[in-house]
Amino acid sequence: MELFEQKFQLSMSSKVALLNRITHYIVNRKGKQMRPMFVFLVAKMVSNGEVSERTYRGASVIELIHTATLVHDDVVDDSNRRRGFFSVNALWKNKIAVLIGDFLLSKGLLLSIDNNDFDLLKIISIAVREMSEGELLQIEKARRLDITENVYYEIIRQKTATLIAACCSLGAASVKPESSHVETMRKFGELIGMAFQIKDDLFDYGEAQIGKPTGIDIKEQKMTLPLIYVLNNTSKKDKIWLINSIKNHNKNSKRVKEVIAFVKDNGGLDYAVGKMKQFQSEALELLKNFPDSQYRNSLELMVNYVIDRKK
Ligand code: IPE
Ligand code: IPE
Ligand code: MG
Ligand code: MG
Repeated sequence: MELFEQKFQLSMSSKVALLNRITHYIVNRKGKQMRPMFVFLVAKMVSNGEVSERTYRGASVIELIHTATLVHDDVVDDSNRRRGFFSVNALWKNKIAVLIGDFLLSKGLLLSIDNNDFDLLKIISIAVREMSEGELLQIEKARRLDITENVYYEIIRQKTATLIAACCSLGAASVKPESSHVETMRKFGELIGMAFQIKDDLFDYGEAQIGKPTGIDIKEQKMTLPLIYVLNNTSKKDKIWLINSIKNHNKNSKRVKEVIAFVKDNGGLDYAVGKMKQFQSEALELLKNFPDSQYRNSLELMVNYVIDRKK
């Protein structure tokens, strides 16, 4: 990861001073770097410990694209905190944040193109398309307030799980391009990604300090699994109250707190935790297709970390 970080930092460089100032700001506030870790561990598991320059480049591209989507996501969600500090849009405004996101995306794509990693570029480009579709699907459904559990899974599969799926399939493809591991690992990453986003949505119902705002999903009319479950499993009267609160009182802090308490009291969080654990155990099941190794053990720890993490 130390070597990765050096390469990652270099991959962002630019001749424009303002750009360099902002990318420095971003790399100095690094995230958990889970995605590159998945890339490396999967590559090592399928190749018995060997990684190549392709693996490093793939990991950098993924983290660049992840960073770009976070910069854009904070514009879309109008969020002013990220990784415990001000978001790019909070400090430099939306105009600049949009352009920084585009710059990081293009740097990522070029890193693959300049090195003829076209197979990896394809995996990554599919993820980028799906993420944009997922974010838009979420906006479309949020406006109509009629989201079902299956539509929620489709949203989180597209906006979050496809990128983690890309990490794992790319990790395999970087060392064993033609093998069946590429598809098995894609599925593995997708399952982890589903659990990961359910966990992220659960944080929004909590009070913990996670480096970004909590309690904002209902304000943004973003319906996630705990709320969807409760809406579909409560009396007609309560359902009308819930919908009315989200539709017409979503900026009223007291009312939002009441909705959050209602969701908690009616088993919404427990239900979401149960679903998250289902995805987790399906992912662990897939790992059993591989022989025991230190890399497989580490991946198992990573899967459990996704569920148990505190931020
Ligand atoms: C945040 O991802 C975006 C989601 C898909 C929920 P991470 O929680 O992995 O972000 P960082 O990189 O660690 O900040
Ligand atoms: C995840 O969406 C970000 C992307 C997949 C682009 P969210 O809006 O749910 O994530 P956070 O909570 O802001 O990190
Ligand atoms: Mg968002
Ligand atoms: Mg967001």
